[in-house]
Amino acid sequence: MRMVAVLAVAALLTASSCGSGDDDKPPPSTVEVFTWWAEGGEKAGLDALVTRFNADCPGQRFENGAVAGGAGVNAKQALTQRMARHDPPDTFQAHAGAEMTDYIDAGQVEDLTAYYDSWGLREALPAGLIDDLTVHGKIYSIPANIHRANVIWTNPTVLSRAGITAPPNDLPSFIANLSALKAAGIEAPLALGRDWTQLMLLEAVLITDLGPDGFAGLFTGETDWSGSPVTKAINDFTVLLSYGNLDRDTLDWPQAERLLIDGQAGYQLMGDWEAADLTAKGFPGYGWFTFPGNGKTFQWLADSFTLSTGASNISGTECWLKTVSSASGQQAFNAAKGSIPARTDIPSTGFSPYQRSAMADWKSTTPVPSCAHGSACSQPWQTAVNAALNAFSTTHDPKTLQSALAQAATQFIRE
Ligand code: BGC
Repeated sequence: MRMVAVLAVAALLTASSCGSGDDDKPPPSTVEVFTWWAEGGEKAGLDALVTRFNADCPGQRFENGAVAGGAGVNAKQALTQRMARHDPPDTFQAHAGAEMTDYIDAGQVEDLTAYYDSWGLREALPAGLIDDLTVHGKIYSIPANIHRANVIWTNPTVLSRAGITAPPNDLPSFIANLSALKAAGIEAPLALGRDWTQLMLLEAVLITDLGPDGFAGLFTGETDWSGSPVTKAINDFTVLLSYGNLDRDTLDWPQAERLLIDGQAGYQLMGDWEAADLTAKGFPGYGWFTFPGNGKTFQWLADSFTLSTGASNISGTECWLKTVSSASGQQAFNAAKGSIPARTDIPSTGFSPYQRSAMADWKSTTPVPSCAHGSACSQPWQTAVNAALNAFSTTHDPKTLQSALAQAATQFIRE
């Protein structure tokens, strides 16, 4: 089956292009696109891509297979079940990096290397990203964007009521600001959500306490999860949690974001999908800064799209992937999604002030990957870490958390 699909892809590359269907023999016309982009800025991004797809791919119809839930918590489970039933969507969203290897190892995605050559993607995408996507010489997905994870979003009105007018320079000043907000009557100044969002906060603190190299080494085996810098980071993380809302474990990220919008919190750490979402939700006056102490570190992740093994509409999916990879597709999608284009040849006009700053930073900062969003960790590793954080959220036992994190690394670090 897999070989048949590979041959079909190769044939399509030479024989067809988007929308040039043979009138006598119409191809299957529906492309099921599976994502977790179901509302707010995420849906706006998807809609913008669909508009391009409709223009680029006449005769093909987009079918929305989205399953809601931040960071794909529900979608990934639903996808696993569909894969087990041999009922995959034609294409699905997956994070570039370690997370893709789960699908590659299981033979669930087709080799797309030929597209890179025929669509000029080797020139259009950064070499480092292509390296991160390449597994044993082959590439299995097409990146749509680059998101940044280590950003704090603010409600400037709430901050100014506590006399806070500038971003903190380091973690102690950030904690001092959180205290000032509490003193000014904001009970939970740091908006928090469930497990994976807490992992994002812990990762940001780890970047501050270990530096970019030490942090990146946690995922390659070069940095010891049992060491004292990680102990310090867990202590700092615990202090930060004490400034957050107590119902954190029951909230997805948009619900935690709502606390910021409504003025019940002054700060939220979240990936830069929040920029587009705040705008989509009528709150364009947000502020932002890189997590205190992260310096010139850009914690990156990239949404990419696959061709499922056993996809029922290969030519339509090819056209979807081509739109995703194209300059016009990436311009339209990213402007609405809050991310920046993965392609390097797209001008910054038409992007928000936040996005223009992220584009500049992406060129001048040190990239580190994200565990919560798959560029650093496989899915089983993410699951183990999220479970450890869930437990910690109730037990508050830092030693058990650190040993669970160390154990997960030992179990899941790849050669
Ligand atoms: C995805 C983003 C998405 C975010 C929140 C991340 O894992 O890469 O595209 O906006 O989750 O759902």
